[in-house]
Amino acid sequence: MSDQRRVYIETYGCQMNLYDSRAIRDNLSAAGWSEVESPDQADVLLMNTCAIRDGAETRVLGRIGEFQRYKYERPEVKIGVLGCMAQRLGEELHARKRAVDLVVGTDSYGQLAELIDAARDSGQPQFDVQTDDSLTYVARPETSPLNNSHFISITQGCDYRCTFCVVPSTRGVLRAKAPSIILGEVEQIVAAGGVEVTLLGQNVTAYRHPEASFAELISSVAGVEGLRRVRFLTSHPTDFPEATLLAVAEHEEISPWLHMPVQSGSDRVLRRMKRGYRMAEYMAVVETARQLLPDLTLSTDLIVGFCGETDADFQQTLDAMRELRFDSAFMFKYSERPDTPASRLDDDVAGQIKDERLQQVISLQDELWTQRAAGCIGEEWKVALEGEDIKGRGYFKGRTLNNRKVLVPKRADLSVGDELLVRVTGCAGTTFRSELRSVLWKYDHVAA
Ligand code: SAH
Ligand code: F3S
Repeated sequence: MSDQRRVYIETYGCQMNLYDSRAIRDNLSAAGWSEVESPDQADVLLMNTCAIRDGAETRVLGRIGEFQRYKYERPEVKIGVLGCMAQRLGEELHARKRAVDLVVGTDSYGQLAELIDAARDSGQPQFDVQTDDSLTYVARPETSPLNNSHFISITQGCDYRCTFCVVPSTRGVLRAKAPSIILGEVEQIVAAGGVEVTLLGQNVTAYRHPEASFAELISSVAGVEGLRRVRFLTSHPTDFPEATLLAVAEHEEISPWLHMPVQSGSDRVLRRMKRGYRMAEYMAVVETARQLLPDLTLSTDLIVGFCGETDADFQQTLDAMRELRFDSAFMFKYSERPDTPASRLDDDVAGQIKDERLQQVISLQDELWTQRAAGCIGEEWKVALEGEDIKGRGYFKGRTLNNRKVLVPKRADLSVGDELLVRVTGCAGTTFRSELRSVLWKYDHVAA
């Protein structure tokens, strides 16, 4: 048996999984594992998975099939499934895909290195999907000098029970990290050369801790010396006291961008989804936010074809989109998830109708956004450079504090991290083009 400790990790799903994968890397590297770039060099292949929709799981099942061929070539290779799909399916995953040697849920990454050893020593599959309602993770920042933006999970789990959603069962109850731990992570990130953090939670605005409210937490994060930008997601309209919006307004480091899923424009559907608000309440939060934050950008998630959604309900979603004018929207067809409360409702909207409704929301969002984006041309924005445009056509890609993507023509004196004043010249999709006006701030921190 090989003693080599080379691991390959693939991450699926949300930013929280990216954060967890970092914590997983920390644990494995402490146990002597090194990460490799390609599965054919690895002794253990890990997938950190997502269970949110059926499609997310189908993709992983397909990928397990592809990974299997490495076992034909090198039978000692082990395949592990981590994350939400592991949590949801447990041992069933191995029953369905015999190639899977490890199934490790979202609260068990601390035991991962031991579980891998056990699988390698015994040749038997290992399962750990126990939950721990008090556990939270801390991941070390990556110290690449090119990465000045970092995710930090500040909560795990969710106390809501939206009827369509698998998260409460894969991620457990809401757990909040102590402010001192979060601030410690931010300080470490700044020491490693980071200037930007995004605070993550399934429902991040529900953050509460005996030592700080969410508004107090983001204010103290914004106050960390050397940190220039703070974003947070995902917001929930029910957990939006004005204090949170005031904190955003007060601190120039905090991004006036809300990612606040509306899911549907129909109160009847929202009630069936148990979202906990009516449209009027959602709209009221947006109205106050737009009053307090002149640069507010608003993005959302939408589900079409939820159980019992009539044509009239769907029209209300279209109306809400016209009224709310989202900057961007992630739009999904309802996908029934086993063991969620909605799986007991009748998934009665025909597939074809779901497809049509999805097409309609996508084209309406395109149309509304095109109008809105045209109105931005000529404006002057502050942009932070994030990297080279992958298409390599002589542009840097950058982002405004309120999360708009902007391309800026390259110039020899500009580098990643710099903050610029630009003038918007055009827009394709959700990416703006711009010309440089002036350099506002040079990023010169060399990572330790
Ligand atoms: N609050 C969470 C939500 C995670 S799920 C967060 O963003 O961190 C992301 C989005 O997926 C949801 O807002 C919802 O629009 C969509 N979604 C969740 N469950 C779904 C399902 N069963 N079918 C279709 N879309 C779903
Ligand atoms: Fe899911 Fe609703 Fe929580 S969408 S993550 S149960 S707020």
